[in-house]
Amino acid sequence: MNTHQKKLEEANQALRQAVAQLHFDPHKPAFHAHAPANWMNDPNGLVYYNDEYHLFYQHNPFVPKQWERGTIHWGHMKSKDLVHWEHLPIALAPSEDYDRDGCFSGGAVIHDGKLYLFYTSNIFTVPPGLPDDLLQQQCVAVSVDGVHFDKSELNPVIKHPPAGIGQDNHFRDPNVFFHEGTWYMLVGNRLGDNGKILLYRSRDLLQWEYVKVFGESSGDMGYMWECPDFFSMNGKDMLAFSPQGIGWPDQPNISGYYLGRLNNETLDFSHGEFHKLDHGFDFYAPQSFTDGKGRRILFGWMRMPRNADKQWAGSMTLPRELRVTGDRLTIHPVEELTLLRQQQATVSDVRLRQDVKTTLPSIKGICIELLCKFDLTNTDAAEFGLEIRSSLNGDQKTVITYSKEHNTITLDRNQSGDYVSGTRVLEMQRLSDELELHIFLDTSMMEMFINKGEYVMSGWLFPDPGNENIVFFSHGGNTTVKSVDCWGLKL
Ligand code: FRU
Repeated sequence: MNTHQKKLEEANQALRQAVAQLHFDPHKPAFHAHAPANWMNDPNGLVYYNDEYHLFYQHNPFVPKQWERGTIHWGHMKSKDLVHWEHLPIALAPSEDYDRDGCFSGGAVIHDGKLYLFYTSNIFTVPPGLPDDLLQQQCVAVSVDGVHFDKSELNPVIKHPPAGIGQDNHFRDPNVFFHEGTWYMLVGNRLGDNGKILLYRSRDLLQWEYVKVFGESSGDMGYMWECPDFFSMNGKDMLAFSPQGIGWPDQPNISGYYLGRLNNETLDFSHGEFHKLDHGFDFYAPQSFTDGKGRRILFGWMRMPRNADKQWAGSMTLPRELRVTGDRLTIHPVEELTLLRQQQATVSDVRLRQDVKTTLPSIKGICIELLCKFDLTNTDAAEFGLEIRSSLNGDQKTVITYSKEHNTITLDRNQSGDYVSGTRVLEMQRLSDELELHIFLDTSMMEMFINKGEYVMSGWLFPDPGNENIVFFSHGGNTTVKSVDCWGLKL
């Protein structure tokens, strides 16, 4: 057994123990992909390999916390349908001098039938207790069976960003892709208070040559750019990344994208404005990949509130399909999620009267999919919406409000239960005749797809486990509900 195998064995053993000690937690997600126990963060190495979906993730198998030295591993699961996941042994453990303090985020590619994982090796260069200083380098590990990974003897394959271009201590999250006959790698980086992404290229995936700065902030786009993810779709090129320091006061790190065009000669990426990938809470560090059907599928990390005291921490989002039409990106729950559907209730043509709270027969639940269509042409209310996960007396609830006047949607978590609070307001750009809210609830998670994927709003909710009511409301006039469908969901 080499050092890596020993470290993996220790980690798998610790995880088995943690799983054996899990007690029932009604807030633990029922159908979202997440670690068997303890900590997880970013999705990593998403890839469709030998007809199966592989999902790796940042994982601390020892405790439900991220920042312990040497404890960030790569967890691993796979699926045939994006819905049923099988946990596999931990794929990467910190085991070498160069990665002793963590195997940080990165991506995967398939080459000559082998699976290559690219990750950032992390070292803390100052003693514990001092402000963290880091040495981050890029590494590779290879597998022939998709389960066991050997770290390359050439690691780290990229040791430093070019002097004067970027800092050594924040240089991470390699994203490798094949473009016009060449392998490229993007790496997140910073210089002072400007985040950037550096571009490298390679013939053999092992020796890398610096090309240029691929993107950077000029003062207002964040101090560090994490988790780059570049791909082409339907004639457009897209760069997703996670800039730190430009989000909301309560969550300054956010994730979004530029749509644009890569010039194949100059390798310049020209693009439009930055758009958020999710307008709710807790969504971060997404990554995407192309599957066997040619779909582009994205997973994000749903980070848990820091004060949530549990034996598990964090989850993936649902798999989300990205589609580009013209200059617009839309985001959809993958169709395989219909495999989860159980009993269905449907209610059509309901008139919500001004200031009357309305519940609808069998429209309620804790693990459900809810599809609500509101007729805006036949609605004179100033605002309307619904309360989900509501208690009988209404003192606990999460409130989703559409303002007709402002064309905004507000997600209010101030009465959502433990650990969470605050509101998010989404300003929608286009007016339409119908408002469609497509909501997935999974014990403590909610994800809402708005107007057929134009926007998404997500977040954790920690209400009392039994609160399952859904209450519709209308203020300043009446609202017409065309239809509400509700499916119970079960794995
Ligand atoms: C994003 C991130 C990455 C890093 C990883 C460490 O959440 O900070 O930049 O590689 O998490 O777990």
